[in-house]
Amino acid sequence: MKISIIGSGYVGLVAGACLAELGHAVVLIDNDPVKFAALSGGECPIHEEHLPALLAKHRGKSLTFSRDLRVAVRGSQAVFIAVGTPPAVNGEADLSYVETVAREIAGALRNYTVVVDKSTVPVYTSEWVRKIILLDGAPAEMFDVASNPEFLREGTAVTDFLYPDRIVIGADTMRAADTLREIYRPLTDGSYYRRSDAIRINPGAQPRPARLIATSTKAAELIKYASNAFLAMKISFINAVATVCDSVGADVDEVREGIGSDSRIGSRFLVPGLGYGGSCFPKDLSAYHAVARECGYEFRLLEEVMRINNDQPQRFLRKIRSVLWTLKGKRLGVLGLAFKGGTDDVRESPAISIVESLLKEGCTIQAYDPAAMVRARELLGDRNITYVSSGYEAARDADALLILTEWQEFAELDPAQIRKLLRYPIVADGRNLFDCDVMRDNGLTYISVGRPDVNHWQKEPEYSRISAAETNKPRARSTFAESEMHEQPAVGAAGLD
Ligand code: UDX
Repeated sequence: MKISIIGSGYVGLVAGACLAELGHAVVLIDNDPVKFAALSGGECPIHEEHLPALLAKHRGKSLTFSRDLRVAVRGSQAVFIAVGTPPAVNGEADLSYVETVAREIAGALRNYTVVVDKSTVPVYTSEWVRKIILLDGAPAEMFDVASNPEFLREGTAVTDFLYPDRIVIGADTMRAADTLREIYRPLTDGSYYRRSDAIRINPGAQPRPARLIATSTKAAELIKYASNAFLAMKISFINAVATVCDSVGADVDEVREGIGSDSRIGSRFLVPGLGYGGSCFPKDLSAYHAVARECGYEFRLLEEVMRINNDQPQRFLRKIRSVLWTLKGKRLGVLGLAFKGGTDDVRESPAISIVESLLKEGCTIQAYDPAAMVRARELLGDRNITYVSSGYEAARDADALLILTEWQEFAELDPAQIRKLLRYPIVADGRNLFDCDVMRDNGLTYISVGRPDVNHWQKEPEYSRISAAETNKPRARSTFAESEMHEQPAVGAAGLD
């Protein structure tokens, strides 16, 4: 199929590369001359596994770049709108880019085309896009508007696209639905997974075909917001449970195991930490809240989810204070600046807000992140902060080491080495990457989220060893992404046999 994608941000770029990988002829349109030049010149502007390889494989062949929306749209059977929907001052999604693009599409249509909303947008957006295109003079029989939300996560975006849990297509006509079915056929009939050059997430396993869910456009729009809201709610829920664990001295990992093993609840997305960040959850939660209000419903549950999340970094700062006493003049090692592991994205990163607070309090920071240092430096500058080249360098001569992002690389650091490098043996872990007993055995004072503090001068309570043995609790830990993988081999996939 001939497909245009308007907007080469995260969603547009990944969708473009993956649709080219599925065998379609894709034109990616962006009116930003800098982005256009970078992409045409062979650059990959985001840190995303498999994406550079896909761009290199299809660039100039089944994937081309253009700044001319008209020409691209005229030759396409489907046009995906993947422009940004940033938050407006009132929390609603700003849909002005979507509207501008809809007007431009209207002027370009010559043959029947399906216009697909791929950006995360509130309910009724497809209806508005249709109205705008009609108002701008395109005949009704020349187009349909459909909704095809994207559920990809940063860091695993390419495999999330190619091995989705589900593909949601919201269409109000058979013709539009059939076009979208055709686009995703290589995933839904499994033919992509049989290709020898297919990207694999689990070599050796034979993936099941992807599941396709066909709905109305309004339902598809609601599925996207409701999914993100539910996931954010799980995170805030476990963070609230962790706070209660902190006050009563219980271990949130034990509580998590107990509740997560109920198959109706499930253990994924129940890892406590510094709260969710990134370009999606914070923005989508406030947009969903604003949309509900617009529709006459006060979605107070979402307000609480957001409140718990906003409090989480401050709560952790109070914990840091509880082991360091005063902060002014302290030299702190920081592991992690990205909003989560596996990405260079620092938007709405709890790590950034914590570092900003520490700098304000008069601390000196030596920070390390495997991918996000360039972007973090744009926000944090160089005053009282040095950017070092490894986790161990961050720990060297520091008064304490703080873990703020769940990179797997950090979970693999050697606590004994950290102990040797630190000036004082204190680790404050906002992502629960290490086993408390291991840290104690290495002579570290260790504070984390929802787990009893470890003081290096105190012996391990007997109960802790007994409960670890009884529950076969692994003593080495991994990041939440890794533990998801262990729990569900079919993670984020159409299902791996
Ligand atoms: C999210 C959705 O998962 C994805 O479906 C949607 O398309 C875009 O938004 P993303 O923002 O890339 O994806 O990150 P995700 O992996 O979902 O993590 C979001 C945040 O929640 C991160 O800050 C992460 O650290 C945090 N998180 C996640 C937790 O604190 N605990 C968990 O158990 C899981």
